[in-house]
Amino acid sequence: MSDSIAVPTHWYNIAGDLPVAPPPHLHPGTREPIAADDLAPLFASGLIEQELSTETDIEIPEPIREVYGTYRTTPLIRARSFEKALATPARIYVKYEGVSPVGSHKVNSAVAQAYYNSIDGVAKLTTETGAGQWGSALAFACAKFGIDLEVWQVRASYDSKPYRRFLIETYGGTVHPSPSELTEAGRKVLAELPDTPGSLGIAVSEAVEVAIGDAAARYTLGSVLNHVVLHQTVIGLEAVDQLRAAGETQADVVFGCAGGGSNLAGLAFPFIREVLRDRADTRIVAVEPAACPSITQGEYRYDHGDIVGLTPLLKMHTLGQDFIPDPIHAGGLRYHGMAPLLSHTVELGYVRGQAVEQTDAFAAAVTFARAEGIVPAPESSHAIAAAAEYARSLSEPEVIVIGLSGHGQLDLPAYHSYLSGELG
Ligand SMILES: Cc1ncc(COP(=O)(O)O)c(C=O)c1O
Repeated sequence: MSDSIAVPTHWYNIAGDLPVAPPPHLHPGTREPIAADDLAPLFASGLIEQELSTETDIEIPEPIREVYGTYRTTPLIRARSFEKALATPARIYVKYEGVSPVGSHKVNSAVAQAYYNSIDGVAKLTTETGAGQWGSALAFACAKFGIDLEVWQVRASYDSKPYRRFLIETYGGTVHPSPSELTEAGRKVLAELPDTPGSLGIAVSEAVEVAIGDAAARYTLGSVLNHVVLHQTVIGLEAVDQLRAAGETQADVVFGCAGGGSNLAGLAFPFIREVLRDRADTRIVAVEPAACPSITQGEYRYDHGDIVGLTPLLKMHTLGQDFIPDPIHAGGLRYHGMAPLLSHTVELGYVRGQAVEQTDAFAAAVTFARAEGIVPAPESSHAIAAAAEYARSLSEPEVIVIGLSGHGQLDLPAYHSYLSGELG
């Protein structure tokens, strides 16, 4: 089905399309709207332009499209066996990003970020990673564009998910557990909390600190920011066309997991564009872990993206910059905030949040794996659980689209823990 759909030529920037403009990021010192120059020590110039852009359609440069073309379009799978297992009248479609080189959607932005840094002549990138999906995606992209990479991986995942660390190393990246003794931010946290499992907010501080201190280096973030969300819209742009090609007039509900918000926003925003054009009335559900419920329990306010306060202030749903979630298996969902653009669409009523317990996520993921053969990433499993619960509640047919952001082949120890009853 996906063969007849072309890889998009442009990303979709919802910031230029919403009835109310999203609140700007603020300078952490002056609290004035951030300017391109303020971001220059951190990010490549092409990415800064995208971060601040309100242009609706942004052309995808050819070198990026070339890499996209090696694994996109990704499949939109009609999950008939899963429908049967749930005994639902719903027609369930799964947009599967697990076919990318490292097994998740993260490659869509990693390739773009490495490309824009390479044309600025950046020699080294730094970043954080949770479960290791972003770190491995960026390591792959840096190998493609000839850039060195240093990754701070959240301690809990560094210990429990060694295979993603090995993958980063295989692509040529260097990985440190976070918090680490290598940065002031890391040393400060370790002095206060020597046994901390770490958090993405701490790892961001470490990676930003190193980038700021090295003129040849820049920082990259795997989620949250507008330019990351922008790159991920290839997912939804394809899915809207694929669903139409499958004979559906619209999606009734779209479910995606939300950590920093990039895969869900990337899938959902092109569906919201259909709503904005009065062509559909699709509802969007952002599924987050009960252990880190930023949309359903957090405040909507300006907050930093990291624990130290080095990043711009972002208007978002947040549990607070120093919130350290329990070490759940979905390491990529352990982030205290939510993408400002996604938070804004929640406030405007286009998206609602739902929190799911990790045991419910694994139960649904096991049902899905046994029906469809694909083992979902623990993060994606949260979307599957919420969608399954909704599908079971239906008495009339509806069209459901699930964002299956990655596969869980390297997360099998987590499945083993669940199946052997260790998760309660
Ligand atoms: C497979 C997968 N899905 C989802 C996420 C959550 O990130 P985001 O909300 O930015 O898509 C991650 C993060 O690492 C991930 O690895």
